[in-house]
Amino acid sequence: MNPKKDLLGTEELTTQEIYQYLDLADNFLEVLARPIPIVPSLRGKTILTLFFESSTRTQISFSIAAKRLSADVVNFSQATSSVKKGETLLDTARNIEAMKVDGVVVRHSAPGAAKFLSERLEAFVVNAGDGTHEHPTQALLDLMTMRRHFGRIKKLNVLIVGDIAHSRVARSNIFGLKTLGARVAICAPPTLIPVEIDDLGVEVFYNLDEIIHDFDVIMALRIQLERQQAGLFPSVREYRTFYGLTKERAGRMKAKGVIMHPGPTNRGIEIDPDVADSDKSVILEQVKNGVALRMAVLFIHAGGKIE
Ligand code: CP
Repeated sequence: MNPKKDLLGTEELTTQEIYQYLDLADNFLEVLARPIPIVPSLRGKTILTLFFESSTRTQISFSIAAKRLSADVVNFSQATSSVKKGETLLDTARNIEAMKVDGVVVRHSAPGAAKFLSERLEAFVVNAGDGTHEHPTQALLDLMTMRRHFGRIKKLNVLIVGDIAHSRVARSNIFGLKTLGARVAICAPPTLIPVEIDDLGVEVFYNLDEIIHDFDVIMALRIQLERQQAGLFPSVREYRTFYGLTKERAGRMKAKGVIMHPGPTNRGIEIDPDVADSDKSVILEQVKNGVALRMAVLFIHAGGKIE
């Protein structure tokens, strides 16, 4: 299959394209288990991670993925760049182009920033999170983790709990899960549900206790504390009372059900520490799978060769 130049969102991906990423990522997971977990596939290629917002998992994960493929990696962070001196995104992009990088992994607070760059750069562009719009590699690594657990995505019952309205992770997961035929539901206070929810085609619930037993996967999202300051829910304590993944709630899940979280977690708010660290939690497995998944993304978009 001929890949698109860029990976901007899961909304635009076909079933075949998603499975191409997931299948290759499963192969790269085997590479990562070797004593020397490196392949020469992207030797001579240069990947830039261009992060205008903070990140722990995504930037490090892409960096490791590129190194495991033998690419050269340059990491950019806004804090130490000339953006601080007023340089625009377009000028930053033009300077990058002049330095001849092959691929750009970009995170930016503005929805559409990755698309903006993709239309102006010859280098391929991977969206590592653009505002509240999409975070496709997070969703793909989540899909990978679900498939490795359950052997399938089709007809899997997936519930996303939390701040759906402001979550690029929720949007990317919803698009990917629906394309692969999962049953997708969301659960949140009404103020954290997006206005365009009908367009997303998911079931909507407000009472977690009434439905928690019915799902194979519960994905908790980070509650951004600034949302409480904006009056979207009354208090962190009340949020935890009604929507927090406590030990008692986790105990009412399906026996084989798993708990996911994209990170960073607010322990004691959307997920209790003993649940995040329990056998039901696959949070660190998501992080581990993320390296293999990002290897697959870089390999496919950089035109990698099996040697
Ligand atoms: N899940 C995620 O995007 O984490 P970071 O913000 O640490 O990259």
